[in-house]
Amino acid sequence: MSDLKPHSREYFGVTSLLAAHPDMRRLKRSTSATHLHGNKLWGSAYILMDYLQEHPLEPSSRVLELGCGWGLASIYCAKYLGADVTALDADPAVFPYLELLADHNQTTINTLSGDFTALSVAELAEYDIIIASDICFWDEMSEALYELIARAVDAGVKQILIADPHRPPFLNVAEACIDDFFAELLPREVSTSRRHRGSILVIENA
Ligand SMILES: C[S@@+](CC[C@H](N)C(=O)[O-])C[C@H]1O[C@@H](n2cnc3c(N)ncnc32)[C@H](O)[C@@H]1O
Repeated sequence: MSDLKPHSREYFGVTSLLAAHPDMRRLKRSTSATHLHGNKLWGSAYILMDYLQEHPLEPSSRVLELGCGWGLASIYCAKYLGADVTALDADPAVFPYLELLADHNQTTINTLSGDFTALSVAELAEYDIIIASDICFWDEMSEALYELIARAVDAGVKQILIADPHRPPFLNVAEACIDDFFAELLPREVSTSRRHRGSILVIENA
């Protein structure tokens, strides 16, 4: 595995690779295309990392990331917060990218291929924390995400953190969670090579 610094970036201590990095070019040539927008790193993952840096998890927390894509937030939790992380996505084509980035960050993430809207209360009960970023971008996704959150609350998941760049379907879910689960929606802005604006939905289920 090559490690050419001109083709990588580091934010929040997590290394990401630019499209021009030889390992990324090799992967793009050899893997199938992603769908459901799992084709790049999305800025809301940095909003999540910024929040977690200020509010670290308890050591050895069992973390589930929903719609992980390339999994930078999962990598942050495993690398810096000592978490046991499972990264789930409906599109298996994202996992080679996640694994490549995990390798470059000298960490290991468990991966799970599946639809988060199908997770049962019993499956959700295996985790202490659920994290996600930018997973609610079509109108028809709102109801299923709300129902997933309701099942996670029933399952006793202690904390649910979802970052988003203020997409309307997500804001509908956030509003319902504020009403029903005493959630908070906290605006945040993070700068990497670009400025990322959004909010993080925080549900504490102590
Ligand atoms: C906009 S991307 C965000 C990826 C990543 N969270 C990030 O912030 O870089 C949305 C991701 O959610 C995944 N996804 C969408 N709906 C899903 C579902 N119902 N179950 C599991 N994954 C889903 C997509 O495959 C994609 O990887």
